[in-house]
Amino acid sequence: MDITSAVFIGSAVDVKKCPEPVFPEYAFLGRSNVGKSSLINMLTGVKGLAKTSSTPGKTQLINHFLINEKWYLVDLPGYGYAKVSKQMRKSFSTFITGYLNKRENLVCLFLLLDGRIPFQKIDEEMVNWLGKNSVPFVLVYTKADKISNRELQKNVKTMKDALKASWDTLPPVFYTSSKDKTGKKELLSYIGQLNASVR
Ligand code: GTP
Ligand code: MG
Repeated sequence: MDITSAVFIGSAVDVKKCPEPVFPEYAFLGRSNVGKSSLINMLTGVKGLAKTSSTPGKTQLINHFLINEKWYLVDLPGYGYAKVSKQMRKSFSTFITGYLNKRENLVCLFLLLDGRIPFQKIDEEMVNWLGKNSVPFVLVYTKADKISNRELQKNVKTMKDALKASWDTLPPVFYTSSKDKTGKKELLSYIGQLNASVR
């Protein structure tokens, strides 16, 4: 599938302020700085469409992008940012879980994991929360250009071992690099299949 148009629609402070749920939607979630916004720019081929930064905490709201005038990509704020207060963390998590539980047109969530970092407790909690709440999701490793395949596979194995106890079958796993455009074809073709299945 090719992306021929990508337009920023708006930023919402909560799920009630999101655009009408008239199109299939795909959202990107993961720890701060994992590369959510960069991946959206890579997939759409529009540099600067989603705001990126080397400082964690750049994306603060629910950002909608309309793709090919037919479906939405959504850039979400990152979780696990160390420098926020407990209170802020709590309100942030209600904000994200509210979106994930209530967004009726959400077809699939892309949960991003940094390929360089061994599986983190906070990611494990997120995966198990998604499972418990029946949110359809896939796992997407990022920054594959920054690590050898061997190291990457070691981190993937740690993830699979950690989830073995609670998961019979894991959702699909994708490997990406926003720098090298690795995984672009695979992710877009996956979205294309899902779009066809929900039509
Ligand atoms: P928040 O919005 O703060 O939660 O972060 P984010 O997950 O949207 O991350 P963002 O896309 O802003 O990227 C964070 C940093 O990682 C930036 O400096 C990016 O240039 C860098 N980065 C993201 N993806 C890749 C990648 O695939 N390869 C490399 N080398 N760097 C990447
Ligand atoms: Mg971001």
